[in-house]
Amino acid sequence: MNKEKEDKLLAKAKQIIEDNREKVAKGYYRLKYHLMAPVGWLNDPNGFIQFDGEYHLCYQFNPVYPADKLLYWGHYKSKDLVSWEELPVALAPSEWYETHGCYSGSAVDNDGTLTFIYTGNVKDEWDNRETYQCLAITEDGVNFQKLGPVIENQPEGYTRHFRDPKVWQKDGSWYMVIGTQTTKLEGRVLLYKSMDLKEWELVGEVAGSNFNNLDDFGYMWECPDLFELDGKDVLLTLPQGLEAQGYLYNNIYQAGYLVGKLNYKTGRMDHGEFRELDRGFDFYAAQTTLDDKGRRIMIAWMGLPEEDQNYAERDQGWIHCMTIPRELRLNAENRLIQNPVEELKQLRRDYLEYRGIEINNQKLELEGISGDVLELIVEFEVGDAEEFGIKLRCSADGKEETIIKYKTEDKILSFDRNKAGLGGGGVRHCLIENDGRLKLHFFIDKSSIEMFVNDGQEVFSARIYPGQDSKRIKFFAQGSKVLINKIQKWKL
Ligand code: FRU
Repeated sequence: MNKEKEDKLLAKAKQIIEDNREKVAKGYYRLKYHLMAPVGWLNDPNGFIQFDGEYHLCYQFNPVYPADKLLYWGHYKSKDLVSWEELPVALAPSEWYETHGCYSGSAVDNDGTLTFIYTGNVKDEWDNRETYQCLAITEDGVNFQKLGPVIENQPEGYTRHFRDPKVWQKDGSWYMVIGTQTTKLEGRVLLYKSMDLKEWELVGEVAGSNFNNLDDFGYMWECPDLFELDGKDVLLTLPQGLEAQGYLYNNIYQAGYLVGKLNYKTGRMDHGEFRELDRGFDFYAAQTTLDDKGRRIMIAWMGLPEEDQNYAERDQGWIHCMTIPRELRLNAENRLIQNPVEELKQLRRDYLEYRGIEINNQKLELEGISGDVLELIVEFEVGDAEEFGIKLRCSADGKEETIIKYKTEDKILSFDRNKAGLGGGGVRHCLIENDGRLKLHFFIDKSSIEMFVNDGQEVFSARIYPGQDSKRIKFFAQGSKVLINKIQKWKL
């Protein structure tokens, strides 16, 4: 190990964090209950695991953003998924096999040793890439010792876009899925197997573009995660290069999932159709872990690659955040159901409730229902309304608002952030069957909104940038009336 270089990089990261922490913390857009880097850049969640009773969550971290593009692993841990302790940077790119970044990866408990498996990224002066899948271990959960590459090359037929190992144990063996690209520029996920985490053999192709039932489905698949849930196998993956189709695939890159059965002998997964994990604007690189309560918990990057201009905090010495932790279940139609983990209820303060509110072709504000850091649950009875919804983060002059609207005839729920202040704008839509009720569950935090629809059937995640005085909430119905059975609100 190049201890000297590592110490230097770690010391530099520490210095930058301490020099800028206070300045960054003052910014209005800093979130109150979402994870962010203390300063600088954050992207994918990495190494998410519950180990010795504590959840660890690392993340792709560039302390010097935007000066340079060099990725470290930042590190948090938590006993309850609500309060997180910031730990020293876990991995710094000090070695020959990771000169251009410690890229994404996962964590396992190897018989009592917390172990990371991640991608060492190397680029030469002509921008040619090399990738190495590497191990790092820790005794104390804070300081990591690198063991170097365990997979040094991609198999024949694949390019060096070969990264993001996610590892798990089954029946005494270790398995790894990895995101890849074929030399024909098709995204694929591969399965590897090992007895000791060190010697890996390729099992086969799991899923991908021009494979199984997915034709022309992207030129690269990043960050796979494969796990069992409610008796099925689920593969989370990030296909890059899908064309938008109506309301589908509207973001630069997609985050979605396949459900089926993995054949551990051949590597192949029989699966159904690809579905998006989130219907909003800002969601990527989700990673899951299984905890001691048997829950499959997912955290994602509430952001997207290559669109930095959409994130207004980037001028304030930091950029990006994680989603809240969400518990995953699978329903009878093989759809993932996502709900906030119940520990988040610890954040609730100052409960306020309304019942039986009728809105008749009007806009309505309710005493006490407003804010920029809150949880809000609204249960509509659809009745004969044509179009109704909620406007969040409204300014007094009406110039700023984020509009959630349901059109009952075409059954489309939309999330419109064109007037949500600075940032990206745009509208996202999703079909929600009209069974007479619509339940919207919001987590609002300074510059973000996560909206869970009908108990987690669909989720919309979005960053927004209204002014700090834009805190009003309005309920509306157009052309008819709608009944709100119940409104629940908490400050968080
Ligand atoms: C996904 C990703 C990964 C890579 C990492 C680099 O956002 O591109 O494929 O490992 O980010 O930060």
